This record gives sequence, structure tokens and C-alpha cells, in this order.
Amino acid sequence: MSENLGFSHQFVAGSSDRTLLLLHGTGGDERDLLSLGRYLDPEAALLSPRGQVLENGMPRFFRRLAEGVFDEKDLIGRTNELADFLQQAATHYAFDQKKLRAVGYSNGANIAGALLLLRPEILRGAALLRPMVPLIPERLPDLTSSSVLVVAGNQDPVVPLEKARELVTLLRRAGADIAVYFEDAGHALTNNTVETTKRWLIEARRK
Ligand code: MLT
Repeated sequence: MSENLGFSHQFVAGSSDRTLLLLHGTGGDERDLLSLGRYLDPEAALLSPRGQVLENGMPRFFRRLAEGVFDEKDLIGRTNELADFLQQAATHYAFDQKKLRAVGYSNGANIAGALLLLRPEILRGAALLRPMVPLIPERLPDLTSSSVLVVAGNQDPVVPLEKARELVTLLRRAGADIAVYFEDAGHALTNNTVETTKRWLIEARRK
């Protein structure tokens, strides 16, 4: 039985030194993105934690006050908790944290964004699928060695387009190497989102 390390999670070993951190959306769990992760990188180890907050029984990574309105104090605490878990997991599973890239969807993309903004040492990069600005940090981090993909939907009813654009501006100001795709889609992931992410991951590991 695998140790919990403070988060219910799944770890699947890989055949390379890369690890993908998979962060599910609201109502998902640690099993949700495993097959997507394996498709995105057949050789990476996969680490998939379950969000610790329950909203009407649905797991999330942090509390919100309404759709798109976040409980910032909770978000900061949960981001640090997740970052600490990732550091422990790197030791426990002996993976190279410098090669840890996140793939987050919706609420999972928002906590991945918060990790970049508050704990920039944790991730090498992140694919943020249908994200918005999680919070504006007091001081911008130095993200010059992080690469970030943002894939937003032009008709996303959950994430207004300007919220995704604001995030891109914020990450750019922090120096991240950023690729952005606005696709003709809503909030759900499309084949195009998946293929774009797969291509970006291949590019990112060449850098
Ligand atoms: C969030 O709460 O993180 C965003 O509104 C996306 C969602 O989970 O619905």
C-alpha cells in the first residue's frame, strides 16, 4: 500500500526521468487524468493527487465563494500544502523535481497557476487547460526558467476570456516562456486541447 504523504494520490512509475503532475477539475479525483497523462507522455511517471476540499461532495483543490470567486486565504494555504506534498513525494518516489511539469484542468489549472505564482521553485513548467487568474501575488515571482502553456476556450461559459488573458499577461510579466492557444471551444477539453498539450510537452522537454 502506498503512503498517503498528506494527500490521497496515485503514483504510476514511468520509464524516463520526467514526471507529470496531474491536477483534476472540480468533482474529479486522483484517477481522472491518469489515462490522459499516459497518452500525453507515455514514458513519464504520473503523480495525481486528489483535491482536499469538498464542495457539495465534489473534490477541489481550494475553496471558492462563488463560481470564479476564490477564497484567497484558503487558496494560499492549500497551494503551500500541495507544494509541500510535492517536495515529499519527490523524495519518497525518488523523482527529479526539476523535471516536474503539471497538467491541470479547470480548478486543477488554477491551483497549478497558484503554484507557479506562489511557489515557483516547485514546477519546471505547467500546461494550464481552461485556467483563470487564481490570485495576484504581492510580489511577482521570477518565472524565467518556467515554461507555461495556456489553452483557453473562446466560448468558455466558466472562464471569461479576459480572465484567461489576464493570466497570460501576469505570467508574461513574471518572465515565463509562454505559449497561448485560444480555441473554438467551451470549458470541456477537446481533442485539439489534448493534441496541443502533447505537442507542447514534447517541445518543452527539448528546452
Ligand atoms: C475554479 O473554481 O477553479 C474555476 O471556477 C473552475 C471550476 O472549477 O469550475
